[in-house]
Amino acid sequence: MKYTEPMLKENALQGKTIVVTGGGTGLGKSMTRYFLELGANVVITSRKFGILESTAQELADETGGKVLPVACDVRHYEEVMHMKQLAYEAFGQVDAVVNNAAGNFISPTERLSHRAFDTIIDIVLRGTYNCTLAFGKDWIEQKQKGSFLNISVSYAWTGSGYTVPSACAKAGALALTRSLAAEWGKYGIRSNAIAPGPFPTEGAWSRLFPEEAMSEELIQKFKPENAIPLGRVGEHQELANLAAYLVSDYSSYINGEVITIDGGEWLLGAGEFNKLRDVPEEAWDAIEENIRNSNKKNKAQNNS
Ligand code: HXC
Ligand code: NAP
Repeated sequence: MKYTEPMLKENALQGKTIVVTGGGTGLGKSMTRYFLELGANVVITSRKFGILESTAQELADETGGKVLPVACDVRHYEEVMHMKQLAYEAFGQVDAVVNNAAGNFISPTERLSHRAFDTIIDIVLRGTYNCTLAFGKDWIEQKQKGSFLNISVSYAWTGSGYTVPSACAKAGALALTRSLAAEWGKYGIRSNAIAPGPFPTEGAWSRLFPEEAMSEELIQKFKPENAIPLGRVGEHQELANLAAYLVSDYSSYINGEVITIDGGEWLLGAGEFNKLRDVPEEAWDAIEENIRNSNKKNKAQNNS
């Protein structure tokens, strides 16, 4: 068995309809492909209809599943309500919403206009609560169970310089996830999140690791793999496996959880002394001897 293999049983999502915002590209597309393979109907939404249409065609051909592309800017509530209407018309009901749409780019915060800040917050936080309200209210009214899966990021709880609007928005979406898990659990509505570390996608790499604009030295310094204890970036199927599990009935008792999938990256950055992994193996003998000698000196002083 390999970690790049699909994980869930055949037909694990049969009969479910899942909305994936930002489903035309990157991780949203990979999750959509796997949901379709597992028997779900999927509604994919984003701003660019052309991309959604070609993704829908490609994935329908590949999996034989039903996928509906709908143009919808999640920043605008009326567009979300229209998307919901089209989803109901096509599939009758919606069982899960994956809030995956996002905007992000690296920048020193003092270089950002307030409009740039608004843009990221609006896509990530407003977009997430717009979709949450639109579908959550219906589920409550119709006494229907449902599940939200919010795609967060591993810096949502630590914050991160140079992606400050994203950090603020993802932290807000995480608070929404946990708050509604407590409040809406009584309606049978689950809210969970995934906090990914680096998974190569064109959307993220072009805005967060723009190699073409970096010197070889900077590229090596900021290579994502170098900051990950497991020494590699994530594979899309690994994330799709986790996402499929969290929207499936196998995870019926998981509510309010955020699962980090980052090869240990954020903890490596967080631990004060983790940088010592750069100390060459051969230097440790001398370091140990030095520490033992000062221990001895300390003891001798205490005993005299
Ligand atoms: C400073 C910038 C800028 C930059 C845009 N702006 N890029 N400011 N530095 N590099 C400013 C613009 O000047 C404008 O402000 C405001 O931001 C909005 O920009 P627009 O281009 O008008 O917005 P829009 O066309 O809506 O595009 C939104 C976007 C774009 C976020 C800027 O990048 C986008 O469409 N992104 C969607 C996909 C995405 O970001 N994927 C990555 C997700 S990865 P003014 O003041 O001029 O009006 C992720 C986590 C990765 O989230 C974690 C990895 C480990
Ligand atoms: P991506 O391909 O750029 O996906 C972002 C999607 O959001 C795009 O399809 C985009 O489509 C859509 N989108 C942007 N603004 C929108 C809006 N206003 N309304 C509706 N849709 C909008 O990047 P990705 O890497 O797959 O990211 C997917 C998710 O994973 C994001 O939530 C991201 O924060 C998270 N994540 C990614 C990584 C990583 O390493 N890749 C790490 C941690 C977290 P349009 O442009 O057509 O609107």
